[in-house]
Amino acid sequence: AEIIHKGVPFEAIIKRFRQPPILNPMDAIKEENTIFTFKPLKYAPYKPDTEHDVESYNDRWDKYHVRMPCSNDYISNDRKPIWPKICEHLSFLKAKCDSREVKFKHLKTVIEDCNERSFDLECLQRLIDPIYSKNEYRNFMYVTLPKMCDLLLNIKSVCTQPLPLLRINENRSVSMQQQQAAALLACAFFCLFPNRSGRTLRTEYEDYQNPNFEALYQRGPPSKIEKLKCILHYFNRVTDHMPTGVITFQRVVLPKSEYPQWPELKTDLCDLHLTTGDKIEDIPSVLQVDFANKYIGGGVLGSGCVQEEIRFTICPEMLVSLLICEVMECNECILLIGCERYSSYKGYAHSFQFAGNYTDKAPRDSWDRLWCHVVAMDAIYFQNPSTQYHMKSIERELLKAYTSFRPLGHDADSKFGIATGNWGCGAFNGDRQLKAIIQLIAASEARRPLVYAAFGDRKLVTSFSALYEHLKKERATVSDLYYYLMGYCRDQPEQSLFDYILMPPASRFQKK
Ligand code: AR6
Repeated sequence: AEIIHKGVPFEAIIKRFRQPPILNPMDAIKEENTIFTFKPLKYAPYKPDTEHDVESYNDRWDKYHVRMPCSNDYISNDRKPIWPKICEHLSFLKAKCDSREVKFKHLKTVIEDCNERSFDLECLQRLIDPIYSKNEYRNFMYVTLPKMCDLLLNIKSVCTQPLPLLRINENRSVSMQQQQAAALLACAFFCLFPNRSGRTLRTEYEDYQNPNFEALYQRGPPSKIEKLKCILHYFNRVTDHMPTGVITFQRVVLPKSEYPQWPELKTDLCDLHLTTGDKIEDIPSVLQVDFANKYIGGGVLGSGCVQEEIRFTICPEMLVSLLICEVMECNECILLIGCERYSSYKGYAHSFQFAGNYTDKAPRDSWDRLWCHVVAMDAIYFQNPSTQYHMKSIERELLKAYTSFRPLGHDADSKFGIATGNWGCGAFNGDRQLKAIIQLIAASEARRPLVYAAFGDRKLVTSFSALYEHLKKERATVSDLYYYLMGYCRDQPEQSLFDYILMPPASRFQKK
């Protein structure tokens, strides 16, 4: 189908922002900073095949940090540290790989022995054994896998301390080298992170995701195998040529004192560009929205395969967020900055397929992060869609969207555009027209232009742009839109929200 564009031209929206915004030097960011704290991990170069340097590791085992498998305090039932045993298993596997004798069963044994329990690895096995071609098998098992073992055997010198967790109500960020992310993801591949649903850690991690890949390996739909293809492709890529950039995860909390008072805001509507064609991840120089679950990543390590899960699969560094982020509250969002895209894909949901390599050409900022800003923002799941036309739900969605869209800096450079679309309107059953207006309100108040990627919905692009023209002509403000929403909830009319807003005022209010 022909792609249509409407509203303010895209070029006009991004023309000021082709280059990454200028940042303060990394060392200048202090822990006291009100926007976020910056805790860079010490960086040590990756030294394959060397003795692991235990001395430099700053061990911590507490509820403020990720509990790392290499901690001395991670002990087995016999009260001995588990890590030396894990290293033995990994060295054994590496030797099997190096001598090219390695079979899938060796990998399975190592995952099971490291965890002292049995695993269902059906999807992983199907991919590596019958699905991979001989060359793909050799490349992964003989070349990539031993390098992943090396990365893990060296983890104490690559990640010299455990990551701080990003807990509820904490405005802070964690930045790391892409190589450190690779080491953490290799841990997740072998399911090495201490079991978060086990007896000892269950309460502490109640509101966190399980970062280990075990659920992705379990028997399931074919889209799981396609997701695994993307993730193993990531490991092929990074072990072949380790990327040298930096990525950041930043938790943002909007303080109560900054909640917008919607009925009073006379802010003009922002610029709006609409398109049926581009996907959010293909729109450069903007803040890209992740249609998230409040547990970041949603079903990415399970059977989920919609917008968020696909994004995390083609940009696997995003999976590190599952390791560190507690559940999001209504006034919180999580920024994922600099995560590289490694895979192409086609299809969606059941038809999702890995479609080969992707070379990410985004420019890098002065911290060496790819200029790719993604914000995880979770909508409400409406089991019964009619409950979304209540001001209580609308207020919540407005707050979430505003928290996510609000620029982090005060300068004009921080107000680059936002690329969103049918947020909350797929798996979460939202109404596209209602969510469109909510996001238009939030972007306007954040004073940033909006790019609406409608994912093929031509009717929505046409009707939304007609409504936008009308509102612009009327010089409607943020508070006007808010009152339209109030009226719509109060009147519960037959018409769609767009038609309701377009009605002449007299007919709108007659039905009281
Ligand atoms: N670019 C633009 N639009 C898209 C894209 C894309 N790449 N992919 C999908 N859409 P959904 P939700 C459109 O269902 O309703 C996950 O499990 C498409 O029209 O992913 O907020 C999360 O973890 C699609 O129907 O988001 C949450 O648990 C619509 O966006 C849950 O789903 C909504 O995509 C969130 O569900």
